[in-house]
Amino acid sequence: MNPRKSNPAASIKLIVYGMPLFFLLLTFGAMFKDKLYTSPNTLTVSAALRPHQQHCNVPAGIISKLEPLIAEEPLDVWEGLGKEESHIKYLPSMTDLAAKRRFIYIDLGARDYDSSIGSWFEKQYPKQNKTFEIYAVEADASFHAQYRARPGVTLLPYAAWVRNETVVFGSKPIVAGSKVWRMRPFGRIEGEQAAEDGMSAVVRVAAFDFVEWLRRTVTADDFVVVKMDVEGTEIALIKDLVRRDAMCLIDELFMECHFDRYVKCCSGERINRFNFSYSQCYHLFKELRDMGSAVHQWW
Ligand SMILES: *[C@@H]1O[C@H](CO)[C@@H](O)[C@H](O)[C@H]1NC(C)=O
Ligand SMILES: *[C@@H]1O[C@H](CO)[C@@H](O)[C@H](O)[C@H]1NC(C)=O
Ligand SMILES: *[C@@H]1O[C@H](CO)[C@@H](O)[C@H](O)[C@H]1NC(C)=O
Repeated sequence: MNPRKSNPAASIKLIVYGMPLFFLLLTFGAMFKDKLYTSPNTLTVSAALRPHQQHCNVPAGIISKLEPLIAEEPLDVWEGLGKEESHIKYLPSMTDLAAKRRFIYIDLGARDYDSSIGSWFEKQYPKQNKTFEIYAVEADASFHAQYRARPGVTLLPYAAWVRNETVVFGSKPIVAGSKVWRMRPFGRIEGEQAAEDGMSAVVRVAAFDFVEWLRRTVTADDFVVVKMDVEGTEIALIKDLVRRDAMCLIDELFMECHFDRYVKCCSGERINRFNFSYSQCYHLFKELRDMGSAVHQWW
């Protein structure tokens, strides 16, 4: 008897028991994957990226030449870029843009023209003499008038989001002891419950499917720079960009990752508004860089 010949009864058993087990595993896998994407409060930001991890086509060695990520929470950074800005290593200071077709800057959460487009992108971003098409994405109507007569700047008066729909911008009051601080809704997308809780200041704004728009507007031959300061929605946007294979359309990303931190304005306490810690944000940045995304921490 040929000792290598397998026992036919054993093979049949393997198929009979193996197949259902295999499908059961697939089902669990799919359920688990969906869970990561659908719960916005999940604390595993980076685990959600893994199933779809891709690698961007960046020039060799570039990612390691970017300024190092700051691993420790800077307790003194309250607002604005401040001293961190001078440490940024911009992509066009290290690579030649000559082969690119179009040059595009997208400012998500543009606010005042001078808050980042005018004061930073126009004045400081190294452009190698290229003319950039500029998109200002800002849902708050109080900022719209100043974009009306600006050649070269296209205003998209919506919030960047994962679907075309109306969303609730909300601002929960900060409560510390007997004191309550209320702020106007500041570009933070909250669920419908914010409109119903009777505590939050809310306003409804139009939002759009950013990934779909990006795919329609730019190609891999373009040089695309994005600034993203969207008050906590960045987690949903980044997951959506990765999941729908659009992350690598962005050549250079400046992102503020909003975490629970001490707030100078009010109680001086660490407040729970975003449900992400500094260390989770840090790991998100790190994982994006590992997949070849030239991402910078923005404050
Ligand atoms: C940009 O243009 C100016 C004036 O034409 C020129 O002196 C400079 O070298 C150019 N810079 C780059 C990076 O091409
Ligand atoms: C979202 O809105 C844009 C602009 O109106 C439109 O072109 C696009 O088809 C819409 N996308 C979906 C999925 O409805
Ligand atoms: C943060 O998490 C807490 C506890 O899980 C929850 O009650 C709260 O609604 C969350 N806040 C936000 C802004 O998601």
